[in-house]
Amino acid sequence: MEKHLLDELERRNRLAEEGGGAERRERQQREGKLNARERVAVLLDEGTFEETDRFVEHRCTDFGMAEKCIPGDGFVTGYGKIDGRTVFVFAQDFTVFGGSLSEANAGKIVKLMDTAMRVGAPIIGLNDSGGARIQEGVVSLAGYADIFLRNTLASGVVPQISAILGPCAGGAVYSPAITDFTLMVDKTSYMFVTGPDVIKTVTHEDVTKEKLGGATTHNEISGVAHFLAHDDAECLAMVRELLSFLPSNNLDDPPRRACADPVDRADRELDDVVPAESNQPYDIKDAIARIVDEGYFFEVHEHFARNLVVGFARMNGRPVGIVANQPAVLAGVLDIDASVKGARFVRFCDAFNIPLITLEDVPGFLPGTQQEYGGIIRHGAKLLYAFAEATVPKLLVITRKAYGGAYCVMSSKHIRTDVNLAWPTAEIAVMGPEGAVNIVYGRELQETVREAEAREGPLSEEQRAAVLAEARAARAHEFREQFANPYIAAERGYVDAVILPRETRRRLCAALEMLDGKRDKNPPKKHGNIPL
Ligand code: HXC
Repeated sequence: MEKHLLDELERRNRLAEEGGGAERRERQQREGKLNARERVAVLLDEGTFEETDRFVEHRCTDFGMAEKCIPGDGFVTGYGKIDGRTVFVFAQDFTVFGGSLSEANAGKIVKLMDTAMRVGAPIIGLNDSGGARIQEGVVSLAGYADIFLRNTLASGVVPQISAILGPCAGGAVYSPAITDFTLMVDKTSYMFVTGPDVIKTVTHEDVTKEKLGGATTHNEISGVAHFLAHDDAECLAMVRELLSFLPSNNLDDPPRRACADPVDRADRELDDVVPAESNQPYDIKDAIARIVDEGYFFEVHEHFARNLVVGFARMNGRPVGIVANQPAVLAGVLDIDASVKGARFVRFCDAFNIPLITLEDVPGFLPGTQQEYGGIIRHGAKLLYAFAEATVPKLLVITRKAYGGAYCVMSSKHIRTDVNLAWPTAEIAVMGPEGAVNIVYGRELQETVREAEAREGPLSEEQRAAVLAEARAARAHEFREQFANPYIAAERGYVDAVILPRETRRRLCAALEMLDGKRDKNPPKKHGNIPL
C-alpha cells in the first residue's frame, strides 16, 4: 500500500485516540476518573472491542467550531463481549467538548442502538457529559430525542444499562431513567434535571451538586440509581456482574451456570430464622443466603426502600429474581417507595424471562396521611399489577405474616402464582390479631369493663386499662390460634404446601424445574394501563 494512504489512516487514528488532548485527560485522571477508552477496555472481555464510527466528526460551523473537529466527536461507540456474549457500548469522552451530545455523535448512538435491537444484544451507556452541545442548539436536542425514542423502543427487548461516571444533567437524565438499571459512582457522578444555580434562582434553596444529585442521594433517597460504586472500576465490574444474570434479549433465556451447591441441601438453621415472637424482627437476607446457590445474592436497589429487598440469585444455576419483605426494616411494611421498587423489578424480570421467587413477611401497607396523600393507593397498585401481569414462573414462600391487601399483592395464588409454599410460622389473615380484636370485639371488650365495675365497684383508670388489656390479650390469643397460621389457606389450596423451612431450597429448585416449560399469556392488547 502507498505510504500516504497509511499515513492518513494513522493520522486520523491518532487524533481519535488523543480525544481532547493530554491536559484534559490528566484532569480526568486527577479527579479519579478513567477516560472513555479505558472504561470500555475495563468493561469488556480483553481484546474484544470493535469500534464503530471512529472517524465521525461534528458538522457545526458556528462559534468557531468548524476548526475544532476531533475524529469520533467525543463518543467511543462499538461492540464487544462480556463473558463471551455480545454487548453494545457507548462511552462519552468528557475531554472532547465536555462529552456533549451533538448531531453527529447522537447519530453514532442511534446506529448502535438500532443494530443492538436487530441482533438482540444489551446496550450499555457510560455517561460522562455536559449535556446537549450548546453550540449546536436544537440539532443536539433532536439527537437526544432520537435516543429517547430508541430507549423506549428497546425497553423490554434488550437489557439497557446506564453507568453514570460524571455529570448527567438536564434532559440528558431521561435516557438513563428509561433504561433498566442505573449505576452511579460515589463523589464523581451526579444527575439532576436542574442544577444548584437554577435552584438557587428559582426556589432560593442552597444545595450542593453532591447533595442534590450525587450517588448517595439517588441510591438512598430518590431511587433513581440502583447501584452505588466507589470508583469507575468497581462500577464497571458491577455492570458485568449484573449482565451475568440477564439474557441478551427478551427471546432468550437467562444464562445458566453449572451449580456445585446441592439442590437438596437442607439448612436446619433456616428452621430458626423466624423468631418465636411474632413481632420480633429478623433479617430476610439471612434466609435468602441460606436458600440460594452458594449463598450469593446480588442485591438491586440495596440502599433504597430497604423494607423490601430485591435482587438476583441462582437456583441450581438458573438466574432468579428475588422479591422479599424485610422484617428488619419498618417491620417489612409496604410503603410507596417499596411498592414502586418492587413493581419495577418484577416487570423487568417478567420482560426478560427471569423466574420470580417471593419471600413474604408483611404486616400490610403503611398507614398514615403521608402515605395516603402521596398516593399509596396508586403506587401499591403498581406492585399488584406487576405481580398479576407477570407470566414468568412465579414462586412464593410465606415465612410469617401475610396480612390484608398485602397478602393478595405479594404473589398470592389468586394472581397466578404457580407454586405457593408456607412455613409453619406463617400467619395469613385479614389483619394482625391485635388490630382484628379491637374491631371485631370492640363492643365486647367495653362490656367486660362494665361487668368488672358492676362486680367490683368503680375502677381506677389503670384498673380499667388492665381489665381491658387482659380481655384483649385473651381474644387475641384465640384469634391467633384460629387464624394466624397457614392451615386455613392450605385447606383451600391457596397455599400448595406447608413445608419445613429447611426444605425450602429443595422445594423451590423442584418447582423451578417443573415450571421450566411454562407458557402463559395475557390477553392480546396494545398495552395495559399500569397505574403510573
Ligand atoms: C459544549 C461543553 C458543554 C456543553 C461542557 N462543555 N459542557 N461544551 N456543550 N454542554 C465543555 C466546556 O466548554 C469545557 O471546554 C469542557 O467541556 C469542560 O467543561 P468545564 O465547564 O470546564 O468542566 P467542569 O468545571 O467539570 O463542569 C462540568 C459541567 C459544566 C458542570 C458539566 O461544563 C456545565 O455546566 N456545562 C453545561 C451543562 C449544561 O447546561 N448543558 C446543557 C444542559 S441542557 P474546554 O474547551 O474549556 O475544555 C441539556 C438538555 C438535554 O443537556 C435535553 C434533552 C431533551
